[in-house]
Amino acid sequence: MSRDAPYEAVDRYELEVNGAVHPVEGAWLGETLLYVLRERLGLSGAKNACEQGECGSCSVLLDDEVVCACCVLAVDAVGSSVETVEGLTASGAAAGIQAALLGAGGVQCGFCTPGFVVAVYDLLRRSPDADELQVREALSGNLCRCTGYGRILEAVRMASEGSPRAAG
Ligand code: FES
Ligand code: FES
Repeated sequence: MSRDAPYEAVDRYELEVNGAVHPVEGAWLGETLLYVLRERLGLSGAKNACEQGECGSCSVLLDDEVVCACCVLAVDAVGSSVETVEGLTASGAAAGIQAALLGAGGVQCGFCTPGFVVAVYDLLRRSPDADELQVREALSGNLCRCTGYGRILEAVRMASEGSPRAAG
């Protein structure tokens, strides 16, 4: 798709999200993946906070890599596979992580939680035995204003000792 006219309206394109093809109609080429997920496809799991790639609240998987959806143009995701926290929840892939976050008290306002779920899921499927330094590095792009991180780190430890190896 041409990127020469970023604010040009396009009739229609398709995004593969959580294993299903979603038509996007009447959009602008300059819309971010986060905007399209939330405002056009009704997938509000990825949160909109900084819109600058600084907080990780909008984390999704794009072709199996964690990205900040606020920093990706939706049209650049055409032909790729997008997975959101809704997809991980529906499949049960993140169930152990979600349970651990709740069990450890790693959720307060919850605004950062979907981004952490995506990031922890990605970490544990790649490195199920990640040590604390690796965990801290992997989650360094996810900000939480409530918990102080200790309980989130405890949740990752609990999840890694549970079943998240099955998350991969
Ligand atoms: S909203 Fe995307 S990184 Fe903060
Ligand atoms: S629980 Fe509130 S920002 Fe993390």
